Amino acid sequence: MCGIVGFTGQDNALPILLKGLYSLEYRGYDSAGIAAFTEHGLEVIKSRGRISNLEERIRESGGMHACCGIGHTRWATHGEPSDRNSHPHLGGKDGKSGKIAVVHNGIIENYLELRERLEAHGYVFQSDTDTETVAHLVDYLHTGKKEDLCMTVLKAVSMLRGSYALGVVSIDDPHEIVAARRDNPLIIGLGEGENLIASDVTAIISRTRKYIILDDGEVAVVRPDKVTVMNAFGDTVEKKVQEVTWDLSAAEKGGYEHFMMKEMMEQPRAVANTLHPRIQDGKVVFEDEGLTDDRLAHIKHIHIIGCGSALHAGMVGRSVIENLCRVRCTASVASEFRYENPIIEPDDLCIVISQSGETADTLAAMRQAKRAGAYTVAIVNVVSSTIAREADGVLYLWAGPEIAVATTKAYSAQLGALYLFAIKLASVRGKLTAEQEKTLCDALYHIPDQIEQVLKTKEQMQYIATRYANRASIFFLGRGLDYAAAMEASLKLKELSYIHSEAYAAGELKHGTISLIEEGTLVVAMATQPELYEKTISNIREVTSRGAEVVLVASEDFEGDTSYCSYVVRLPKIPHMFTPSLSIVPLQLLAYYIAVERSCDVDKPRNLAKSVTVE
Ligand code: F6R
Repeated sequence: MCGIVGFTGQDNALPILLKGLYSLEYRGYDSAGIAAFTEHGLEVIKSRGRISNLEERIRESGGMHACCGIGHTRWATHGEPSDRNSHPHLGGKDGKSGKIAVVHNGIIENYLELRERLEAHGYVFQSDTDTETVAHLVDYLHTGKKEDLCMTVLKAVSMLRGSYALGVVSIDDPHEIVAARRDNPLIIGLGEGENLIASDVTAIISRTRKYIILDDGEVAVVRPDKVTVMNAFGDTVEKKVQEVTWDLSAAEKGGYEHFMMKEMMEQPRAVANTLHPRIQDGKVVFEDEGLTDDRLAHIKHIHIIGCGSALHAGMVGRSVIENLCRVRCTASVASEFRYENPIIEPDDLCIVISQSGETADTLAAMRQAKRAGAYTVAIVNVVSSTIAREADGVLYLWAGPEIAVATTKAYSAQLGALYLFAIKLASVRGKLTAEQEKTLCDALYHIPDQIEQVLKTKEQMQYIATRYANRASIFFLGRGLDYAAAMEASLKLKELSYIHSEAYAAGELKHGTISLIEEGTLVVAMATQPELYEKTISNIREVTSRGAEVVLVASEDFEGDTSYCSYVVRLPKIPHMFTPSLSIVPLQLLAYYIAVERSCDVDKPRNLAKSVTVE
């Protein structure tokens, strides 16, 4: 949440900062701003709304030329989205003519207490944000002292409670950016005669592929020719230089109207990247995940943890693992898991699922499981993200950068990773013969081709979308694995199209919610599990007899009466436990086309941000 970028070098910083902000816009897009050292001193321009508004405002002001500056795109926490609450915030007694500018991602929990104390020292606040406290605090600690800015920032952050990634500049040195981090991502891009700070690599890749990751508690001094990183004691620390392995084009639309469509179309490749290297000679092979046969043989309980779509993938994984391996497995919402005093024992395994690897609740839940002695394995897409670095083992998705706020290819890749894990565990625990394992591995290997086939329902889903885009409410029904997939389908629809939607376990609807079904209500029913076909058919009849129109997503072998359904989408043959990988695809397309039909911002739905780094 919130994107930070900073540049110091010889070239004009403005286009570099704006480009960086555009690539970080998925992290928050309710306001944006820039602070840069121009011939007039430290200039700040901010604007409510998208980065294009900020760009327009910079143009109206006659443009800016500077070799060093910081920028921010915001997802509001404290204070409504507005010009005055936009970052950067200035530090200084009247808050306007400040000498210090700060951009921040995170939440300062003790900001009210600090604000009171700073007000007592004569500071006048201009915004409702927690961030402005940091700007004034740095100013207060720095003013009149002959101290390097980084030392002041080190002192200031030691007084903060909460989480932060910070970029700080001062007119004392208009070529220097000081960066600090605790529980929010921040990287430093290493260029030739120039360096950058950013929330993630997409903002630096047009300038350099080399970067270092700032760790919690560290502060960095970033100058055009030098980067120095210090720990909380002020001691210099050596950092490992990392290199971005993917190409810039992977983070561009490549001719598609939206990133989401591009990413849906990339699903076969993304899932293949997760699956194929780990299927060898009819077996699942893990290398760096720390999942030794011995460890797998002794697991007593598996806790799967995630938020949103990652949790929905976890729900599918839970069912597949329990059924195939007969090991107790639970899937929990990360933000709940943390506070329900979970029973975790040393032989437990905690599977943490997160595309970004930065989700605050998921990270906190993982740390808790670790402290309680569980072995933690992270299923993560973003390489070297915090969750990936802190987990005991990592199963990378290798799905490539996902830019659209609503996940599609990472969700599909997460399912692939969970199937791999389930087969491996079942094999180690003697629940599968070598032949059965090979049959399942062969089927897994071909999932990418089958997703490719299902993507051909594009036109059909576009047509169905035109028929139902005006509905006030849409329901998704399914049992077992179909219920887990229905949860994800419903989330896709509501987050993209703003249509109210609920996913229901098909048998549960009649216990209350069926009262919402009326003439013309759209119900999307899923029937992919043979042992549940008959039950699901009965549930479809219950809603159609109350006036609902039904779109049915069914396996190729579904032979039930479909005459009650308005549309039927057939899926290719696949072992039934893997059908969520196919059934979700037409429903992602449906959500996409309904959102397009309603002129919604598909890639950046309102109120959302991709990387949720606040709790
Ligand atoms: C929905 C969506 C979110 C994320 C959730 C977790 O389309 O993308 O529900 O799945 O915010 O994010 P990660 O996977 O980054 O932890």
